[in-house]
Amino acid sequence: MKLGVNIDHIATLRQARGTVYPDPLDAAILCARAGAHGITAHLREDRRHIQDDDIFRLKELQPLPLNLEMANVESIVEIALSVQPAEVCLVPEKRQELTTEGGLNVIGHFEHLKETVTCLNEAGIEVSMFIDPDIETIVACKDLGAPTIELHTGTYCDAEPNEAAVFMEKLIKAADYAHDLGLKVNAGHGINMENLGGILCLPHLDTLNIGHSIICRSVFLGIEGAVKEMLDGMQDYTG
Ligand code: PXP
Repeated sequence: MKLGVNIDHIATLRQARGTVYPDPLDAAILCARAGAHGITAHLREDRRHIQDDDIFRLKELQPLPLNLEMANVESIVEIALSVQPAEVCLVPEKRQELTTEGGLNVIGHFEHLKETVTCLNEAGIEVSMFIDPDIETIVACKDLGAPTIELHTGTYCDAEPNEAAVFMEKLIKAADYAHDLGLKVNAGHGINMENLGGILCLPHLDTLNIGHSIICRSVFLGIEGAVKEMLDGMQDYTG
């Protein structure tokens, strides 16, 4: 299983003071050195952390495949087409939210999403749909022609211990179903060293995309140490 490191919150630190440091590009280079398999960055409409220029530099100047998280809005799709990241992960986005709060409403926005997925597919960019573990939504992703889904693990990761098993069961069913349909299955949101053990029970995972907890750990361990710690925790995954 691969690790994609989301470096948004390096940019959050930079934007907090309007400085030029810390640079997400430097972080990405160190993540690569520590053994990460990919870099994820979310270009939000409000540009609260990652800026347009970061995305272009992350594509050109660091060695790992770039996964660009973005909302399905025309101006950002245009940027994606110009940057040509290895992968685009389509996410829902609300301006006031602290972080991506739920999965995409694929059924409700099917036609609009289909246009974007088709256009990105034609440009040779792998499209991943960030979704809640819901079977009808998975079917809709398949119908859209998206090759990959990313299961939103946030509800499981934030659940009280007595509720976690119910959410885990939904995630397992969703991963099995998507795999049987031939979709690639990634997972992300809210994953940290404490809940990683539960996440490793999910079958068929290709990649975990992890941001906040790794950047937080890097305050104490350095970013290479934090990435290595997560990779060590992931190494017993059997699929
Ligand atoms: N995957 C997606 C689609 C996300 O939107 C995010 C948050 O930006 C993550 C993974 C990483 O979540 P976290 O920062 O909680 O690890």
